Amino acid sequence: MTETPVCRRLVGRTAVVTGAGSGIGLATARRLASEGAQVVCADIDESAGKAAADEVGGLFVRVDVTDPDEVEALFKTAFDTYGSVDIAFNNAGISPPDDDSILTTGLDAWKRVQEVNLTSVYLCCKAALPYMRQQGRGSIINTASFVAVMGAATSQISYTASKGGVLAMSRELGVQFAREGIRVNALCPGPVNTPLLKELFAKDPERAQRRLVHVPVGRFAEPEEIASAVAFLASDDASFVNAAEFLVDGGIAGAYVTPL
Ligand SMILES: NC(=O)c1ccc[n+]([C@@H]2O[C@H](COP(=O)([O-])OP(=O)(O)OC[C@H]3O[C@@H](n4cnc5c(N)ncnc54)[C@H](O)[C@@H]3O)[C@@H](O)[C@H]2O)c1
Repeated sequence: MTETPVCRRLVGRTAVVTGAGSGIGLATARRLASEGAQVVCADIDESAGKAAADEVGGLFVRVDVTDPDEVEALFKTAFDTYGSVDIAFNNAGISPPDDDSILTTGLDAWKRVQEVNLTSVYLCCKAALPYMRQQGRGSIINTASFVAVMGAATSQISYTASKGGVLAMSRELGVQFAREGIRVNALCPGPVNTPLLKELFAKDPERAQRRLVHVPVGRFAEPEEIASAVAFLASDDASFVNAAEFLVDGGIAGAYVTPL
C-alpha cells in the first residue's frame, strides 16, 4: 500500500533485522534496503530468511534468537561483512495458541514465549551494543506491542508480560547509553494485517470484529506502515527520539469511544 519511498536516509548503514523472513521483519528489511542500508536478514526459518535476503540484496544468517552463541555470531557476521552495526531491529517473536489466559497457560508455554520474545531482545542488545559503543553511534529498535501499555480481556499472558519487559528494558538501555550516541526505542505496533492474523480472523470473524471496534481508524495496520516507523527510528531524522514507547497503533491506546 505504501509507494516506493524516495528517501535514502540509510545509505552506508548496516542493519540487522531479526524475524526478517515474514511480516513486519520482511517489510522492514525491504524498506531499510530501499533507503540504502545493507541488511542482514536473520531468521530461524532458512527458506524464508534466505528469500528475504536475496530479494533485498542482503545477507542471510540463520539464527535462533534464544541462543546466545548464535546471536553473538549474527552481529559478528554483520560487522565482519559490512564493517559496522548501525541499526539493530530486534523483532523476532512468537504468539503461540497455548499462551492464553493465566488460568490455562502452563509453565512451559510461559517460558517459551519469554525466551523468544524477551530473552532474545536482551541477547540481541547485549551483542549489538559493543559494536555501537565502539562506533559511538547506533539505533536499536526493539519490537514490543501495544499490549505492553494496555490490558485485554482476551489474554495472552506470557506474550503481554514479555512485551512489557521489552518496553521497560528498551527504556532503560536508551537512558543508559544515550551519551554514547546510541538510541534505544521500543516499537509498539497495533494489530498488523499479517498472514497469521488474517488466518486467525478468517476462521473467527467475531473475534476480528471484537478487536476492530477498538481501532479508531477502523482497520489493522499493513506491515509497510510499521516498517516506515522503523526506518524513521533507525535514521538520523529520529536523532532526538530515545527511550520512547513508540506507538504505531492507529490510535488504539488513545481511544475510549471509537467511531461506528
Ligand atoms: N502481527 C501483529 O499484529 C503484531 C502486533 C504487535 C507486535 N507484533 C510483534 O512484531 C514482531 C513480528 O511479528 P510478525 O507479525 O511480523 O510475525 P511473523 O510470525 O510474521 O514473523 C516472525 C518471524 O520471526 C521468526 N522467528 C520466530 N522464532 C524465531 C527464533 N527463535 N529465532 C529467529 N527467528 C524466529 C519467524 O520464523 C518469522 O519469520 C513480533 O515480535 C510480534 O510479537 C506483531
